[in-house]
Amino acid sequence: MKISPSMLSADFSRLAASVKTVESAEMLHLDVMDGAFVPNISFGPVVIAALRPHTDLFFDVHLMIDRPERYVDRFIKAGADGVTIHFESTKDPAAVLRTIRAAGKKAGLAISPRTPAAAIKEFLPLCDLVLVMTVEPGFGGQSLIPETLIKAKEVRAMLDEINPAADLEADGGIGLKNLREVLDAGVNVVVAGTAVFGTPDPAATIAEMHRIAGDLT
Ligand code: DX5
Ligand code: ZN
Repeated sequence: MKISPSMLSADFSRLAASVKTVESAEMLHLDVMDGAFVPNISFGPVVIAALRPHTDLFFDVHLMIDRPERYVDRFIKAGADGVTIHFESTKDPAAVLRTIRAAGKKAGLAISPRTPAAAIKEFLPLCDLVLVMTVEPGFGGQSLIPETLIKAKEVRAMLDEINPAADLEADGGIGLKNLREVLDAGVNVVVAGTAVFGTPDPAATIAEMHRIAGDLT
């Protein structure tokens, strides 16, 4: 299992110091929101570029923005290692996924809770990662929607057939209490915001998550 702590729940007045507390994770999840695709605004490429020199963590950039084709280049220049776009946010997901891959970065496709798994089937060969949203995108600290885990299983089954090397990521409402259930759905990349940054010792929480996943003895 790979853990991708979401910076959305970190202390925005000291982002670089917050990153240091989660360096035992495998990735860093960066939620970009434009106030149009989702009813919230977070941060953009400038902030990501500012963080880049402070860590070697894989930058897992989650774009919750309309027509992401306008901005993917900027996020890649800012230091993204992987860029995930929403299926619902663009007319041509295939073209955007190809652009990300052509830049040598990992291409991800996200689906919101109401989007069925079958909707993204044709794009799976172009994905290095599929992100199943386990809450409505826009805010941290929500509760996981149980039906989304059924969909995660469906996506994993489709990936096993079409693109077995691809990662399956889940994002929203995941913590120590429901991690096992999420992993049992076939998820291997877990985003956690509140569950990691909302605890006094993020590193201990990350270690506990690895223990639950069976990664530590
Ligand atoms: C929600 C974001 C999530 C969010 C997760 O739109 O995509 O990454 O930060 O936060 P928690 O883990 O608190 O649900
Ligand atoms: Zn996210």
